[in-house]
Amino acid sequence: MRKQIAAANWKMNCTYQQAENLLDEILGAGIGLGAQQEVVFAVPFPYLIMANSEVADETNYFVAAQNCYNKKSGAYTGEVSAEMLQSIKVPYCVLGHSERREYFQESNQMLAEKIDRCLENDISPIFCCGEPLQVREAGTQNSFVETQLRESLFHLPAASITRIVIAYEPIWAIGTGKTASAAQAQEMHAHMRSILAKQYGPMLANNISILYGGSVKAANAKELFSCPDVDGGLVGGASLQTEEFKTIIKSLK
Ligand code: PGA
Repeated sequence: MRKQIAAANWKMNCTYQQAENLLDEILGAGIGLGAQQEVVFAVPFPYLIMANSEVADETNYFVAAQNCYNKKSGAYTGEVSAEMLQSIKVPYCVLGHSERREYFQESNQMLAEKIDRCLENDISPIFCCGEPLQVREAGTQNSFVETQLRESLFHLPAASITRIVIAYEPIWAIGTGKTASAAQAQEMHAHMRSILAKQYGPMLANNISILYGGSVKAANAKELFSCPDVDGGLVGGASLQTEEFKTIIKSLK
């Protein structure tokens, strides 16, 4: 069975002390994970080392960076490279979140390069994609998401594609309290898996985890995660609340 993942996207929230407390509370709950289940905390850069040591003794709990740069190294003041992340043993990196695409003009092409930098450094990308409201209203979300996958991922050989975790995050559902229905999520996830199957064959497509993101909370996680093609969630707001996130973890298949 492919991995089922509850990923917390903390975004630009929490002081260092709050971050430590939040991790202590969630890890202190001692929620055991099955062999195919994982919990990933995507924390701000300054907290990665601390968070990595917090999860070090836990089974199947990991950290992620929220971004990295598309160049290997050099005169890019303020940026963080994949090699730097590897050097502090960060196993995952979120890439292409819609907030980065919107506020920092990240293009599909730039994201293809970021994907490559991560894979060169043995970091698994959590690649985000998803359509804005106008696209959903026009009914063209399937081809919109297909283009995102094609332009950022399909240069990869089969051996690399299975390192990718995909997060489908319809932009109209992020931070809005408006969740895609389980049926809408399942429909898109099945569509994405069929595109992956056409490119890489059904066996590989079946092994790629596709997470849903956009107003996932304790109250809807179970229903979303029970969809056959939904392999967990990328959770923003609710991941900052201990009880909410604990329930979300327990909702994994
Ligand atoms: P949300 O954010 O859960 O607050 O909607 C999800 C995300 O942006 O990853």
